[in-house]
Amino acid sequence: AGGISDPGLITLVNKLQDVFTTVGVQNPIDLPQIAVVGSQSSGKSSVLENIVGRDFLPRGTGIVTRRPLILQLINREGTAKTNGVKEEIAAGGDKEANADEWGEFLHIPGQKFHDFGKIRDEIVKETEAKTGRNAGISPAPINLRIYSPNVLTLTLVDLPGLTKVPVGDQPRDIERQIKEMVLKQISKPNAIILAVTGANTDLANSDGLKLAREVDPEGQRTIGVLTKVDLMDDGTDVVDILAGRIIPLRLGYVPVVNRGQRDIDNKKVITAALENEKNFFENHKAYRNKSSYCGTPYLARKLNLILMMHIKQTLPDIKARISASLQKYTTELQGLGDSLLGNSGNIVLNIITEFSNEWRTVLEGNNTELSSVEL
Ligand code: GDP
Ligand code: NA
Ligand code: MG
Repeated sequence: AGGISDPGLITLVNKLQDVFTTVGVQNPIDLPQIAVVGSQSSGKSSVLENIVGRDFLPRGTGIVTRRPLILQLINREGTAKTNGVKEEIAAGGDKEANADEWGEFLHIPGQKFHDFGKIRDEIVKETEAKTGRNAGISPAPINLRIYSPNVLTLTLVDLPGLTKVPVGDQPRDIERQIKEMVLKQISKPNAIILAVTGANTDLANSDGLKLAREVDPEGQRTIGVLTKVDLMDDGTDVVDILAGRIIPLRLGYVPVVNRGQRDIDNKKVITAALENEKNFFENHKAYRNKSSYCGTPYLARKLNLILMMHIKQTLPDIKARISASLQKYTTELQGLGDSLLGNSGNIVLNIITEFSNEWRTVLEGNNTELSSVEL
């Protein structure tokens, strides 16, 4: 199943959301935001795009991401969804425009982009509008919302890569400026950091890991992502890194294979890219005995579990808020007088029962899954 768009998790969150709405609790689950950090061209945009399972981010060699992109995924019930479409998306499908899914930019309110290719064009255009064409950067974020029945309501942040030497129109202190931009996003305690490092570079020099460590020294919310495993020299592999023998991370590392520049130029679709990645790990002698712990689907699954844990940790607080609103509701009812209480008392009881059932689903149903998978 696909990524952070895992249908199980979406259903769970939606169900909880329904119960909360019933008792008038607003925004009960504030899911973590997922941010990428790493050197320029390490593959950050490629990783985010693969996780979402749609083609919509500008990618390429050199500095392509030049403003932060705050991408809010918003779950919204569809009207014309079919199982075929859902499965395709769950498998990371690169499907064409769908009436139920669209993007909307904060800087062009009201204009719906159903074509994800046009979303990418607009990101490029809006980047150039603020930074020019000559490699300039800007800390002013581009805000994009994607509405879809197939996503979880959460935020992803694509960021410019860490770089040291200014080129083109870049400011002299480019290194500091980008670092500040990135720190601003990953310092939030609610952020999950994807520290992206090219497997064809030395992990000890990883800018991403270094910066992640500054804000998350215990490594509680940092996942190491190793890209470009396909570009490693023959006879070398990332097995020692995965085993935690180089720079251990509590949440571990996931090796991935994204589309290379030639794939981008040839407009290789995301499904083909994911298939290629799967074949790579399953057939490589260093990875084939651990291929289920490799690749984008595993990374997505890890993120899923982290989100699940987050929901679980948030539940006691949510429960307290619901009890409080029920209390208020009951008091208001009592204020209306005894004659009404008989019937309305039942409503309250129903809500409590409904909530308890949802509560059990989360704590028991998914708890088994949580404890059985090693993060
Ligand atoms: P970013 O600058 O960190 O956002 O990196 P991009 O996602 O824009 O990718 C930079 C370049 O590296 C592009 O040409 C990608 O095609 C290439 N690239 C990224 N990941 C991989 C990978 O896993 N394998 C190969 N072969 N190329 C990759
Ligand atoms: Na790049
Ligand atoms: Mg990028």
